[in-house]
Amino acid sequence: MAATIAAALAVLPLASGLELPNEVGKLPALGWNSWNAYYCDINQEKILQAANSMIDRGFKDAGYTYINSDDCWSRMDGRDPETHELRPNMTKFPDGIKGTADEIHDMGFKFGIYSSAGTMTCGRYPASLGYEAIDAATFASWGVDYLKYDNCFPPEYWYDDCLSCEVDPSFSPTGIVNGSCTNSTPPVNHYSYDRPIPFCALEWPVDGVNYTAKYTALRFRIMEEALLAQNRTILYSLCEWGVDQPWRWGNQTGSSWRISNDIAFGDTSWPRIVEIINMNSFLSPFADFYGHNDADMLTIGNGNLTSAEVRTHFGLWALMKSPILIGTVVANLTEEEVSVLQNKMLLSFHQDPVFGKPAAPYKWGANPDWTFNNTIPAQYWSGASSNGTMVAMFNPFNETRSMEVDFSEVPQLDGKASYEVVNVWDGSNMGSCEGSVQMDVEAHDTAIVLFTES
Ligand SMILES: *[C@@H]1O[C@H](CO)[C@@H](O)[C@H](O)[C@H]1NC(C)=O
Ligand SMILES: *[C@@H]1O[C@H](CO)[C@@H](O)[C@H](O)[C@H]1NC(C)=O
Ligand SMILES: *[C@@H]1O[C@H](CO)[C@@H](O)[C@H](O)[C@H]1NC(C)=O
Ligand SMILES: *[C@@H]1O[C@H](CO)[C@@H](O)[C@H](O)[C@H]1NC(C)=O
Ligand SMILES: *[C@@H]1O[C@H](CO)[C@@H](O)[C@H](O)[C@H]1NC(C)=O
Ligand SMILES: *[C@@H]1O[C@H](CO)[C@@H](O)[C@H](O)[C@H]1NC(C)=O
Ligand SMILES: *[C@@H]1O[C@H](CO)[C@@H](O)[C@H](O)[C@H]1NC(C)=O
Ligand SMILES: *[C@@H]1O[C@H](CO)[C@@H](O)[C@H](O)[C@H]1NC(C)=O
Ligand SMILES: *[C@@H]1O[C@H](CO)[C@@H](O)[C@H](O)[C@H]1NC(C)=O
Ligand SMILES: *[C@@H]1O[C@H](CO)[C@@H](O)[C@H](O)[C@H]1NC(C)=O
Repeated sequence: MAATIAAALAVLPLASGLELPNEVGKLPALGWNSWNAYYCDINQEKILQAANSMIDRGFKDAGYTYINSDDCWSRMDGRDPETHELRPNMTKFPDGIKGTADEIHDMGFKFGIYSSAGTMTCGRYPASLGYEAIDAATFASWGVDYLKYDNCFPPEYWYDDCLSCEVDPSFSPTGIVNGSCTNSTPPVNHYSYDRPIPFCALEWPVDGVNYTAKYTALRFRIMEEALLAQNRTILYSLCEWGVDQPWRWGNQTGSSWRISNDIAFGDTSWPRIVEIINMNSFLSPFADFYGHNDADMLTIGNGNLTSAEVRTHFGLWALMKSPILIGTVVANLTEEEVSVLQNKMLLSFHQDPVFGKPAAPYKWGANPDWTFNNTIPAQYWSGASSNGTMVAMFNPFNETRSMEVDFSEVPQLDGKASYEVVNVWDGSNMGSCEGSVQMDVEAHDTAIVLFTES
């Protein structure tokens, strides 16, 4: 399995990624998004209320920057018949999107909007495929700072031709499929963009597929070009659900890419949180400054996550350097949830200006290294930061387990006999520790400790 990873890394594109002006997108985004809180039931008042709560409850001061509207902000009955521009639903947004964005800016936040690389958004509102230039210009004129671009409803003529590539159903490490292509006839091109190389061919060294050449990647690149043509910096967040391995082409195209389907439809998000941790545990090599694996918006505050589960959700999202968008009614968060979401050491790791790589597993734990397992994923993670080495111990089991950091196993620790250790959750100093640190980790909890040299 490790050999597969090495092979995958060997074909990582050397081309540099999308670097927006003023370092926008260099670090993973921090903010709020309407979806997990309200789904389609949004309006201007709810979004402004979220922004106010983000100030009142200290999130703005903690570094949270973006207030983003998800789907369902526009008129369902289509574009302006003359200009072909998208139109806000003025019943929901009496001041329009521009007026809402102005108010969000006046509060000191940036404002984000949503569309899809298809004919309709997931909520069946008009979407941007074929209208990329118009929509990017509209968003820029409204003062939009962030675009979440979804993957719903591409028309059939945008489907990739070679649908018979065989996909390994077990989803091997890094999601690699062993493609065996039965039909690589070039498709009829219904768009003005050409695809120079068949994307699906047996000679592909890793998996038979050049994902960068697929129509999916192309649909997202067209919007990238449209955004870059505007006189406004708009962070570009790819919401392609991981289906065409966006970690292979996302860095050139956007600032972040969703690695999987949604985290939650309803209250039962814990099993999905564990699945996402498992999937992302193979993808850390693909992330660095300007390109982030997006593990999806948070569900903290919704449903019934336990305190331990809340720590794991936020703690691992921060260590994986996923964008962190709170997805709940902020006013209703408990004090305990707020303190987790504003943990200074984890936010410093997430926003580190010097170290861009996310934490990665250094050992799986219960399962052998590189095991893909959606209920018992990698348990031991580490990452370098300006302030020292972060190490996390995740307990996916249903009962407390004793877990141990053996210093000699952590790649970032450089063989010193002892380190100063701080417990990241409560800030307590565990003193100077020799050789190893052992902790009892509650069911579904993640112990996180910061190592500095004695
Ligand atoms: C993504 O692109 C940025 C900007 O060019 C670069 O700094 C970073 O190293 C790239 N990420 C990876 C994993 O290569
Ligand atoms: C605008 O939103 C209101 C309230 O949800 C809804 O009743 C109405 O049908 C929407 N109008 C359009 C044109 O989508
Ligand atoms: C992948 O496919 C090639 C040829 O199609 C085959 O030789 C190889 O054994 C396959 N690899 C795996 C891991 O199944
Ligand atoms: C994969 O496709 C992209 C886009 O068409 C192309 O630029 C790139 O060269 C291809 N990769 C290889 C290794 O041929
Ligand atoms: C671009 O925007 C800046 C400020 O946002 C403005 O000063 C400048 O004139 C604009 N340039 C063009 C070509 O519109
Ligand atoms: C949360 O709710 C789901 C669905 O009702 C249930 O399966 C799960 O056991 C609950 N979890 C906790 C920790 O109560
Ligand atoms: C938030 O709390 C208020 C007051 O307790 C309550 O009326 C409201 O239903 C809550 N909202 C959500 C979405 O939980
Ligand atoms: C280092 O830690 C201090 C105290 O938690 C914090 O203020 C600072 O931002 C951190 N610096 C970096 C680069 O992580
Ligand atoms: C996941 O790992 C656990 C612990 O080793 C094991 O009991 C379980 O069968 C594994 N699940 C799958 C689907 O392999
Ligand atoms: C924990 O308990 C839940 C609910 O009973 C069960 O579905 C799950 O498989 C258990 N997880 C482990 C790791 O044993």
